[in-house]
Amino acid sequence: MAVDVILGLQWGDEGKGKIVDFLAPDYQIICRFQGGPNAGHTLKFGGKKHVLHTVPSGIFRSNLINLIGNGVVIDPITLAKELAAIKAAGIVLDGNLLVARKAHLILPTHRLLDQASEAFKGKSKIGSTLRGIGPTYMDKTGRNGLRVGDLTSGDFDKKYQALKEKHLGLLKIYPEFDFDLDQEEKYWMENLDQLRSLPFVDGEYYLNEALSEGKRVLAEGAQGSMLDIDFGTYPYVTSSNTISAGACIGLGIAPKNIGEVIGITKAYCTRVGSGPFPSELFDEDGTKLGKLGMEFGATTGRARRCGWLDIPQLKYTIMINGVTQLVMTKIDVLDSFETIKVAKSYQIKDKLVSTLPFDICDQEISPVWQSFEGWQTSLDGITAYEDLPGRARGYIQDLESTLGVPFSMISTGPERSKLILRS
Ligand code: GDP
Ligand code: IMO
Ligand code: MG
Repeated sequence: MAVDVILGLQWGDEGKGKIVDFLAPDYQIICRFQGGPNAGHTLKFGGKKHVLHTVPSGIFRSNLINLIGNGVVIDPITLAKELAAIKAAGIVLDGNLLVARKAHLILPTHRLLDQASEAFKGKSKIGSTLRGIGPTYMDKTGRNGLRVGDLTSGDFDKKYQALKEKHLGLLKIYPEFDFDLDQEEKYWMENLDQLRSLPFVDGEYYLNEALSEGKRVLAEGAQGSMLDIDFGTYPYVTSSNTISAGACIGLGIAPKNIGEVIGITKAYCTRVGSGPFPSELFDEDGTKLGKLGMEFGATTGRARRCGWLDIPQLKYTIMINGVTQLVMTKIDVLDSFETIKVAKSYQIKDKLVSTLPFDICDQEISPVWQSFEGWQTSLDGITAYEDLPGRARGYIQDLESTLGVPFSMISTGPERSKLILRS
């Protein structure tokens, strides 16, 4: 069987958690393949809201396995809090949540380095979630990192101390950065027990065996393709490969095993943190999108920047991911708009451009807008495509023909049940 991949096509927060939770019963294994507690994936059902950071969004479904893959970076403190919330919601963890031994650990000093580095950057800061993501991936590629499997080795303490000392040396670059490590470190050590209580697996063997037995696997991306370390709006990106290719690296599966690539886009666009965002709005429409869409980060609570859909940007991420199906979320947020716009192309100096320029961070890009008449009626909770008003269908169909990929799902509200299935 193939591994289907769900990922975000914009700058994150596209609604990946909701869609993974909805589709999870069709699969036997749900895996996260990159990122860490910088992610915040929101699920809503039974009148309750759940936010996941490290745990795959299949955890609330019964009879399936969730795997935190080797490409993920794990903070034992955040994970312990997440496990407590999951248990409080009535979920029994009895072998249904596995952790890949090759996943890297976020140390308290990784978080300090992240904070110090961002503070030092001043105005040019990335707008990181300050969860220690960048420094942990730096240690991974620098071949210094500590992995989950190291927790069971006899010399874990020695390895931990060596890495911590290295970090303390690095922190001296920022003499004005004040910190209290002792308390955090104590807390981190205590919370390791929660991580140790989960079964560790060699994720690559586990998944390849499962695939050869015909099991259905869904890979859940974090962040969005425009935050990819290679293809995003560098340097305003995260430190992992968020695109579909990242699923192979972050799980240990071969490219030939990738099946459907399900790309999610909001019906408009948001970004949290610094960096270029060509279709960003600074007017009343932008404020209204933020208000109606309740655009505040699920991890940091920061207000998200809002804008209209960006066609060159979406075409780009559809291309690099090999998207086979699109999902549109939050179409209900557009209900009251008289006019809805999309950026069809960009005006850069005196040229019309429909691809993303290399130097996207350093030049002025003016979107060339296409307008659609709004439907001005509530789509909240609609579950049949035929029940959508003609103008909403027109918006979807126009985008499909421009983007060249069909929308197989349209989400009409945050709750699990508020979804149109088209195929
Ligand atoms: P993720 O990081 O991609 O999982 O997305 P987040 O959870 O960070 O942000 C998506 C937000 O939109 C969450 O608050 C969801 O509950 C909410 N949401 C998801 N789908 C819809 C939808 O179709 N309509 C509305 N109004 N909200 C949605
Ligand atoms: P989910 O999975 C939105 C952004 C941060 C910052 C940049 C780098 O919920 O979609 P990092 O902490 O990785 O060093 O931050 O990336 N960012 C996200 N934005 N959704 C996310 O995850 C994000 N994870 C990181 O705001 O601009
Ligand atoms: Mg999120």
